[in-house]
Amino acid sequence: MKLLFIGDIVGSPGREMLKTYLPRLKSSYRPDCTIVNGENAAHGKGLTEKNFHELVEAGAQVVTMGNHTWDKREITDYIDKTPNLIRPANYPEGTPGKGMFFQKMGNKEIAVINLQGRTFLPAIDCPFRKADELVEEARKRTPYIFVDFHAEATSEKQAMGWYLDGRVSAVVGTHTHVQTADERVLAKGTAYISDAGMTGPYDGVLGVAQEPVIRRFLTSLPARFDVAEGRTQLCGAVITLDSKTGMAQSIKRILINDDHPYFD
Ligand SMILES: [Fe+2]
Repeated sequence: MKLLFIGDIVGSPGREMLKTYLPRLKSSYRPDCTIVNGENAAHGKGLTEKNFHELVEAGAQVVTMGNHTWDKREITDYIDKTPNLIRPANYPEGTPGKGMFFQKMGNKEIAVINLQGRTFLPAIDCPFRKADELVEEARKRTPYIFVDFHAEATSEKQAMGWYLDGRVSAVVGTHTHVQTADERVLAKGTAYISDAGMTGPYDGVLGVAQEPVIRRFLTSLPARFDVAEGRTQLCGAVITLDSKTGMAQSIKRILINDDHPYFD
């Protein structure tokens, strides 16, 4: 059983990379489920309904979000109609949308859970305790459980990896936009990577055009940030699971850019 995850889609360059490479990655890896983080897909901030459908048409089966979930206000109108679009589960009670979705995989199903860290990010509910609650619920239905942990601090991500080790199939970090090289299967069988990286501009600052970011560092004056133009990249990971236990057998990083060209 294989899962394909594609990291944070940033703006139209990210959406175009997804359209170009997802069909090729799918024919190479033949994933049973494809999950895409879309929280930056609408010009770097949030996700419009149109962009959500674009990601699905490109091949995403489940779309996860993060701290930019609410940046495009229209999401509060459509998130409850699109169950395969999930937002971090540890947002307070009463928040629109859900943080877990069960995706069919033939006669099986996988629980996809989205959580958000609290270190250097808004103080929402505890992601660890919310994970306990959702994992217990998910395990009644399926041994296949994928967690997108959208967090800033590597320490919080590693802690979540170890906390859920042996209880979920994979904990994949998102949000920092820089792919880490620490992919591994943890001691009790959970696949882990601190950050899958981002899909979009290759020559920006985390996907944003260089100049305004540099100017803000130099002057501290407010600046308008736009998605960078030019060369692009795609980042993600492919995870192979034991079909009986749901635990991971391997995790492999996917990195496509001019310095790491893709070959089928
Ligand atoms: Fe984020």
